[in-house]
Amino acid sequence: MKFEKNILCIGAGYVGGPTMSMIAFKCPQYKVTVVDINQARIDAWNSDVIPIYEPGLDDLVKKTRGRNLFFSTETDKGIREADLIFVSVNTPTKTFGQGAGKAADLQYWEKTARQILANSDSDKIIIEKSTLPVRTAEAMERILNANSKGVHFEVLSNPEFLAEGSAVQDLEAPDRVLVGSRETTEGIAARRTVVDIYANWVPRNRIIESNVWSAELSKLTANAFLAQRISSINSISALCEKTEADVDEVAYAIGTDSRIGPRFLKSSVGFGGSCFQKDILNLVYICHTYGLHEVADYWESVVKINQWQQRRFILNMLGNMFNTVAGKRIALFGFAFKANTGDTRESPALAITRGLLEERADIIITDPQAIPHAKEDLKDVKHGLTFESDPYQAAKGAHAIAVMTEWKLYAELDYQRIFESMQQPAFIFDGRNVLDHRKLFKIGFNVFAIGKMPLKHF
Ligand code: NAD
Ligand code: UGA
Repeated sequence: MKFEKNILCIGAGYVGGPTMSMIAFKCPQYKVTVVDINQARIDAWNSDVIPIYEPGLDDLVKKTRGRNLFFSTETDKGIREADLIFVSVNTPTKTFGQGAGKAADLQYWEKTARQILANSDSDKIIIEKSTLPVRTAEAMERILNANSKGVHFEVLSNPEFLAEGSAVQDLEAPDRVLVGSRETTEGIAARRTVVDIYANWVPRNRIIESNVWSAELSKLTANAFLAQRISSINSISALCEKTEADVDEVAYAIGTDSRIGPRFLKSSVGFGGSCFQKDILNLVYICHTYGLHEVADYWESVVKINQWQQRRFILNMLGNMFNTVAGKRIALFGFAFKANTGDTRESPALAITRGLLEERADIIITDPQAIPHAKEDLKDVKHGLTFESDPYQAAKGAHAIAVMTEWKLYAELDYQRIFESMQQPAFIFDGRNVLDHRKLFKIGFNVFAIGKMPLKHF
């Protein structure tokens, strides 16, 4: 079959895999190839057990793989054949040299650019799908267009706004798609080509066109604003605990104001995920680079509150369990950074586990999807750590349960049965405010939730 376009995506991760599956599903007239340097990941995409857990994704891949969706490690070949190349490689926080701990590490991105250049004999549209510092497209253009082959590259920004756990839904009906380009004739033409792909299923009025710098900066800004809301409500949760206000009631009351809106106001043990912290720190670094130190400090405080909220959770457990958890069995319900994903990157559960291990607690981790990643994250830990897929077994003989992830199943367990199997007095620390606290208290638990007065039997 002759396809209308050859689309390549470099990077078969949490973004590349789902976004390309959706394009392939909605646009059978295009051939979509996803490449990666990680052979095991590509093998998994080509197997019955795809490498990421995401509701609905399995089905999408089954419907398209081998039809117009292909996973491969042959990047050079893919580049040669492609008309458009999405680049969706990882852009983690730099861990070395200038900007370590804040700036984005662009080594994977730059290697990709050089590989594209080396393998291109015809003009191509290069699309930044990864989240990148504002003005990265300029550096890309310089690398790519400094060639003597007469090949022209148009560099666009099309940031991804999907959230894990709801990726398929977010891709199928996005709030918006953003495509930024240079405001030149060639830039605008390339932008229209990308807009036309999405217009196969996204209403035109949800496709925003902008200049390339606005698109790049909008992605960092969106994540910063979302994270800021969580840190804002989490900061108020601490005040609620001092004043007998209830953070869920406060969030509801302010969220009904249409200017504020109800979403991203759920107080928690802290936000996790691979992007919020990394993208804010990147924004902070960029602001410092431009001498905007006050702006940088403002955004950095969002990350600081998030770290403080996690420390506060550990101190709260310690304080309420008679100032020692040494040798006590503590069951962590959930390890994923949010429900409906197996992803544990920057999960608050990781910080809580390490904090409690430092206090010499015995930790039992249970999670319906994230145990393989949790084992990998904690492989350096030699003592005091067990993994258990069954939450009832995890809680058996425990002094305390701490809810780390808002998996629906944790709200539906038989807590009477759990209580009877635990050490007494039994404690529950609800880091997600998803349990029925009054009911638990009635059963006999001492209940500590975020932003609420404790329910104690002593
Ligand atoms: P990921 O680590 O899951 O995937 C990146 C993939 O790129 C990896 O499989 C890696 O092997 C591959 N890769 C790296 N260098 C390569 C190269 N030279 N050639 C081929 N493959 C290469 O990362 P992710 O979560 O998919 O995130 C990718 C980007 O998208 C990041 O910039 C992130 O900030 C952004 N983003 C992520 C999400 C999310 O929900 N995870 C959402 C929106 C945006
Ligand atoms: C987030 C954004 O929501 C996406 O738009 C963006 O594309 C993505 O980052 C990215 O750039 O990687 P994601 O991290 O997958 O998506 O998940 P979120 O739903 O945003 O949750 C992030 C963290 O905040 C989770 O730990 C979640 O539990 C926590 N959270 C979320 C709260 O504590 N309270 C809330 O009200 C909402």
